[in-house]
This record gives sequence, structure tokens and C-alpha cells, in this order.
Amino acid sequence: MRFIKASNYEDMSRKAANIIGAQIILKPDSVLGLATGSTPIGTYANLVKDYENGDLDFAKIISVNLDEYKGLTRDNDQSYYYFMNHHLFRHVNIDANNTHLADGTEADADKACAQFEQIIKATGGVDLQLLGLGHNGHIGFNEPSDVFMDKTFCVTLDEMTIKANQRFFASYEDVPKQAYTMGIGTIMAAKKILIVVSGEDKSSIIKEAFFGSVTPKVQASILQFHPDVTIVGDEAAFSKI
Ligand code: F6R
Repeated sequence: MRFIKASNYEDMSRKAANIIGAQIILKPDSVLGLATGSTPIGTYANLVKDYENGDLDFAKIISVNLDEYKGLTRDNDQSYYYFMNHHLFRHVNIDANNTHLADGTEADADKACAQFEQIIKATGGVDLQLLGLGHNGHIGFNEPSDVFMDKTFCVTLDEMTIKANQRFFASYEDVPKQAYTMGIGTIMAAKKILIVVSGEDKSSIIKEAFFGSVTPKVQASILQFHPDVTIVGDEAAFSKI
């Protein structure tokens, strides 16, 4: 695992965008695995800037996202499709037909998950997967558990995650309680993994996930077994390692 220390959130965002940018330059038809959440927002802003400066071309890029809430339509401003469109897709020249998220409106979970796995397979596989890290060690919506899930599945969200997400919704009741997420096997199949982490509140879980035992209780710990992981974090996030 490669740890790249950034001085603050802005620096972390620029460094992460530079790594993704290098991937796009070296392989213009890359398959990018993307994440939502607060942490990568600055990374996407830097990618947009690099596109506007003429340094990046997304014309042949394919994207697949880690997860999507079950039950939210794409135009719901809390859906992850909406997030991706708002922060990245509509600002760059990516072909909308090449941007893929699990279909949150598909009520048949088995069908939604199988369809999404099929889409990932058809892309030929993810070249670079961007991840954030949950306070409980989740990646995507792979919550603490007794097992590692393999393929995309429908998850009932952890209480901690629902509470963490509540800030984006009018009330607790409005927060979706289920989501479709890539499984750990799907994430681990990516050729390269890039994790972004920021803030003191992530410092304990970074230590536990990447320097502790590999256990499904801390799902991100499995990344210790991936051959190509880069973690870009700010000083506060790295303060305990
Ligand atoms: C997002 C996702 C989540 C987040 C994680 C960290 O698609 O799957 O695993 O990456 O919850 O979120 P932030 O960045 O908001 O701390």
C-alpha cells in the first residue's frame, strides 16, 4: 500500500485528481470506478478544472459507480446519479451512455445487481477504482459483517451509516434504508485502487483498516491484500499512523 500524505483537503484533492488524470492520459479509454460522499468532491472539482484547462479528455472514458440508493430516481437530488452528474459528468465531455450506476429504481434487487455486474463485465473491468472510507470501515456500502460479499448486492444500511447520511435528508425517515453496492469481490477486481481520506475523524479507522487484522468487521481491511492500492490522505487523517 502506498500512503501519500497531503497537507490539507485541497492538497489531497489535487493529488488524487492528478493520479486519476494520469490514468486518463495514459489510457484515454480507461474504465473508472467512481465514488460519492463528501471526500471526493474536491477531487472531482480538480478533474473538472483539468478538463477545462484542456489537460484531460473524457470522450472515451467509461465510468461505473460503487453504489446507489435503492428506491431513488436519478432526478432525486440525493441519488448518487444526481451527485455524479452535479459534480462531474455534466462538466466534462464524458458520454452519458458511458456512465453507469446500479438502477436504484429497479425494485427487483437480484435483477438490478445482476444487470450491474453484467455492465461492469462488458466494460472489460475497472482500471482505477476511487474509494472513500466510512467511519466504520465500510467501502461502497459494504458494512461491518461476518462475511465479505463478492458481487454487487442489495444491502440494508448500518444504523451508523443511516445517521451519517441523515444530514442530507429532511428527516431520518427519508433516508433510504437499502442500497445496491459493488461487493468486495467486485471492488478487489479493479486493477488499481485509490482511496481518499480527510480529517481527524477518519484517523482511527485508517489505523484499524490498514494496520490491523484483515476482518469483515472492518471491510476496508481486505484492501491490504490488493496488489495496487494508493491512499491519499491529509495530515489530520494520517495523524495516528
Ligand atoms: C460512496 C460510498 C461510501 C463513502 C464513505 C465515505 O459512494 O460508497 O463508502 O465513500 O461513506 O464518505 P465520506 O467521503 O462522505 O466521508
